[in-house]
Amino acid sequence: MARIIDITASREDALSAAFAVLGEGYPVAIPTETVYGLAADATNPAAIARIYETKGRPQFNPLICHMADLAMAEEYAVFDPLSRLLAEAFWPGPLSLVLPLKEQSGIHALATAGLDTVGIRVPKGFAGELIRTFGKPLAAPSANTSGKISATSADHVADDLGGKIRLILDAGASDVGVESTIVKVENGEMTLLRPGGLAAADIERVAGKRLRRRKKASAAIEAPGMLASHYAPGAAVRLDADAVLPGEAVILFGRAEIRGIADAAIQLNLSPAGDLAEAAANLFDYMKKADASGAATIAFSPIPDEGLGEAINDRLRRAAAPRE
Ligand code: TXA
Ligand code: MG
Repeated sequence: MARIIDITASREDALSAAFAVLGEGYPVAIPTETVYGLAADATNPAAIARIYETKGRPQFNPLICHMADLAMAEEYAVFDPLSRLLAEAFWPGPLSLVLPLKEQSGIHALATAGLDTVGIRVPKGFAGELIRTFGKPLAAPSANTSGKISATSADHVADDLGGKIRLILDAGASDVGVESTIVKVENGEMTLLRPGGLAAADIERVAGKRLRRRKKASAAIEAPGMLASHYAPGAAVRLDADAVLPGEAVILFGRAEIRGIADAAIQLNLSPAGDLAEAAANLFDYMKKADASGAATIAFSPIPDEGLGEAINDRLRRAAAPRE
C-alpha cells in the first residue's frame, strides 16, 4: 500500500519522500488546487509509462506538464504575447496553456504523445514547491483509474490507486475540485479546449476577446484524450432531472425543487446557496458518495451553464455519456 504523508504535518518529510520516489522514476500522487495529480518526471520515459500503466489509460494521451513558475515554463515552451498575458494573470492557478514545444526541451515525447506542442500548468501551493525542489517538470494527469471520477482528496486516491503506487501526499480536499481550464492560442485567437476550474469569462475579461469553443463532447476523441465517456461513477447518470425515481440517488444544486425526493436512496446538495465554485469543489466527492449508496442511477438537478457551471456540466455530460 502507498505511504500517505500529511504535508501540513511535515512539509520537509513530504518533499524529501516525493523527491526520492520521483528520482527513481516512479509516480507520486500530489495535491493541487484543482484535483490530485499522479505526477512523474516529464523527462523520463519509464516514469511517464508508469503513469499510463497505473491509470490503465487506453492509449497514450498528451499529459499536462506542471512547472514551478512562468520562468521555468519559458525554458520548455514558446510563449506568444497573449499566452504570456494569460500566464501572468492566472499562474499559479487552474489554467493550462497549450504551447509550441521548444526544440530539445527535454520533455519526453511520451508526455506530449509525440505532438510538437505541450500542455503546461503552474499549480498553486505545495505542488509548485515540489517542482521547484525537483527542478524538472512533472507530467500529471488526475490521480484516478482512467475513465473514473477524478480524485479530490488523498482518501479518494488511496481507495482507487493505493495498491499500485508508493506515495500519496495529503493536503486535504482540493479547493477548486475540477481540472484546470485548457486554452490554446493560435494566431492571436484563443480556443477553449476544456472548460475547467477557471471560468471562461475571467479569461475573456483579461484577454479582451472571446474564447472560441469546441463542439459538444462527441464519442470520438476531439482534443486528444477528451473521451466522451469519462468521469464515470459505477451508477448510471441522469441529467436535468425534475423528479427522482424511487431508489435513485439525487444530487441537487441551489434550492432546486424536485419531486419524489422522499424516496431517494440518498440526497446531496452541491451548494444549497447556489454557489458554483462550492458546487465544483464538491462535485467529484458527492458523485462518489452517491455511488457508494448503491443506487443504480444518480439523478442531477439542472446546473446553470455559466461561470464554473460550464466545467461542471461538461463533466456531467461525460459521466452520463454511453460507456464503451
Ligand atoms: O487540473 C488539471 O489540469 C489536472 C491536475 C492534476 O493538474 N491535470 C490534468 O492533466 O487534468 P491531464 O494530463 O489529464 O490533462 C490532459 C488533457 C488531455 O486530455 C488534452 O485534452 C489536454 O490535456 N492536452 C495536453 N496536452 C495537449 C496538447 N499538446 N494539445 C492539446 N491538448 C492537450
Ligand atoms: Mg482525468
